[in-house]
Amino acid sequence: MNFRKTIALVIGLLAALSAQAADDAAKATTMATQVCVACHTADGNSVVAMYPKLAGQHPEYITKQLSNFKSGARKNPIMSGMAAALSPEDMTNLGAYFGSQTAKLAAAKSNGAGSVGEKIFKGGIPGIGVPACASCHGPNGAGIPVQFPRLAGQHAEYMVTQLKAFHSGERANDGAKMMRTIAGKLSDQDMAAVADYIQGLR
Ligand code: HEC
Ligand code: HEC
Repeated sequence: MNFRKTIALVIGLLAALSAQAADDAAKATTMATQVCVACHTADGNSVVAMYPKLAGQHPEYITKQLSNFKSGARKNPIMSGMAAALSPEDMTNLGAYFGSQTAKLAAAKSNGAGSVGEKIFKGGIPGIGVPACASCHGPNGAGIPVQFPRLAGQHAEYMVTQLKAFHSGERANDGAKMMRTIAGKLSDQDMAAVADYIQGLR
């Protein structure tokens, strides 16, 4: 079966589940374990680097992203299809479900202590006006609810994709252009280094 057919099937399943008048929290668990599982795994610790980990993320941030995918404020062909089938209550309950899962830690490939990645995360790049990532995402990357997402342990590859999308303006759902302004000043090398460091944060 080709990928497009799989997606269509999955979205059909989601619409059917969403229409069922079941207990809300139970419905979210069913969606997570029957639909989202395909890419994010049932506990939100995705093992494929292009699919973000959702485990331990702030529930409100997850809900906001789902709502942004549905409205088109954040564009992604896969997730827009998923989110189209979700009601606001589903989005809130899915945020609560994945937010309450325990995030599995990961390791940096080469940007550990003393690396360029660490310098950018903790101190920014003063010469070109890049602020420390830690000032909004927290010293350990745990984020600051509700606005600033958790980054610790997230797949570096996914984060680089997002930084590039903010850099080009393709992702434009950040309030006050916070991430577009910052990522706009980062080179590909800066992005790779800081994302690798963040992947290893705990
Ligand atoms: C077929 C694969 C697939 C399925 C199934 C899927 N997702 Fe996703 N999801 C993705 C991809 C790919 C992205 C990254 C999109 C991007 O690059 O902007 C993503 C991103 C997200 C994000 C944004 C995370 C962040 O850190 O900003 C959330 C939230 C999310 N998905 C929730 C869900 C939920 C809830 C479900 C089930 C209803 C689901 N996804 C089903 C592939 C999938
Ligand atoms: C002024 C505050 C601020 C600073 C400083 C900041 N960020 Fe962010 N970042 C945000 C906000 C707000 C979002 C969420 C945007 C949204 O609502 O979708 C975000 C989102 C992200 C995301 C996407 C997360 C996801 O799950 O999709 C990544 C990756 C990221 N930031 C990396 C960085 C890096 C790397 C730095 C340092 C170079 C940095 N940020 C500095 C505010 C900040």
